[in-house]
Amino acid sequence: MTPIYQTSTYVQESPGKHKGYTYARGKNPTRVALEKNIAALENAAYAICFSSGMGAEDAIIKLLLPGDEVIAADDLYGGTYRMFEKIYAPFGIKFHYVNMSDAKNINKYINEKTKMIWVETPTNPTMKIIDIAACATISKSKNLILVVDNTFASPYLQNPLNLGASIVVHSATKYLGGHSDVVMGALCVNDENLYTRLAFIQNSTGANPGPMDSFLVLRGIKTLHVRMDRHCYNGRKVAEFLKSHPKIETIYWPGFPDHANHEIAKKQMKDFGGMLSFSMKGNSQEEAFKMASSMKVFSLAESLGGVESLIGHPASMTHASIPKEEREKSGVVDSLLRLSIGIEDAEDLIADLKQALDSVR
Ligand SMILES: Cc1ncc(COP(=O)(O)O)c(C=O)c1O
Repeated sequence: MTPIYQTSTYVQESPGKHKGYTYARGKNPTRVALEKNIAALENAAYAICFSSGMGAEDAIIKLLLPGDEVIAADDLYGGTYRMFEKIYAPFGIKFHYVNMSDAKNINKYINEKTKMIWVETPTNPTMKIIDIAACATISKSKNLILVVDNTFASPYLQNPLNLGASIVVHSATKYLGGHSDVVMGALCVNDENLYTRLAFIQNSTGANPGPMDSFLVLRGIKTLHVRMDRHCYNGRKVAEFLKSHPKIETIYWPGFPDHANHEIAKKQMKDFGGMLSFSMKGNSQEEAFKMASSMKVFSLAESLGGVESLIGHPASMTHASIPKEEREKSGVVDSLLRLSIGIEDAEDLIADLKQALDSVR
């Protein structure tokens, strides 16, 4: 097994004569093993790991300067939106939020200040699908950096660099780690210049992960393919159950043929994943809370991508930092509940949802 190099520094033979490692903020052998592993999964020339997904995202935005503009998907993870608006907008970086279900919508926001397009697909939590190849055609024609947050799909289901993205970002806390026991982020790139700049930012600002966490994610990745197959299988079973349930208003899962971008999902993903959301008839927050608290197999918790199923209420949890008006525009209504489908027995998951739905009204 990859050793856990629990060290902050490395003995040198004589000043400047060393084995490639000088100080662990810059490089650690356990982390290097993980970076090579994640790069291979994303078919990337380089990967860089960070102490969280947000640390990885933060490094990407540090490529920009005041006055630069970013065109971002309008249905982002709430923490990404919060970092853009509360940390970087005051530094003079401007973010436009655009419904990218039709990639052509990006075009009208491009001007001479635009530097970056930021995509999340499937989006969190309403599972919109964005056509990565179409975004790459736009970004290449205007010389922009295309960032794709691939957390929801995982490298097993989708490889954005193959479709023309410049940077892939992961919250490795989720499917890569897979066991809800570590917080970690990763970036993958092919371009050497981008890699050098991002590695410099990482070493200079220091959001790097420790060796134990690197070991845990390496271990998680060993079963990524097996877990993902089961997440997808269970996700389909649960989605089909909810679709036919009389208390469900809308269900968001890209595997349904009537999903607006089902064909794009089929084209760019191997399968439809284990994430889905639904709203309830009457749109009552009280009922959504009651349902979320009545689950017995699902745990009520933030996060996703672990082997255990989770239920969350985006409006009050992951998306609480997005103003109500803004979030409702993208479907994050008061009764919306998000499920991260784990690898338990699908029948147990369905029985749990059934009893919780019976408990409301
Ligand atoms: C899609 C997505 N991107 C990024 C992040 C941030 O990652 P982390 O929590 O590892 O900092 C999350 C966290 O939930 C996420 O869901």
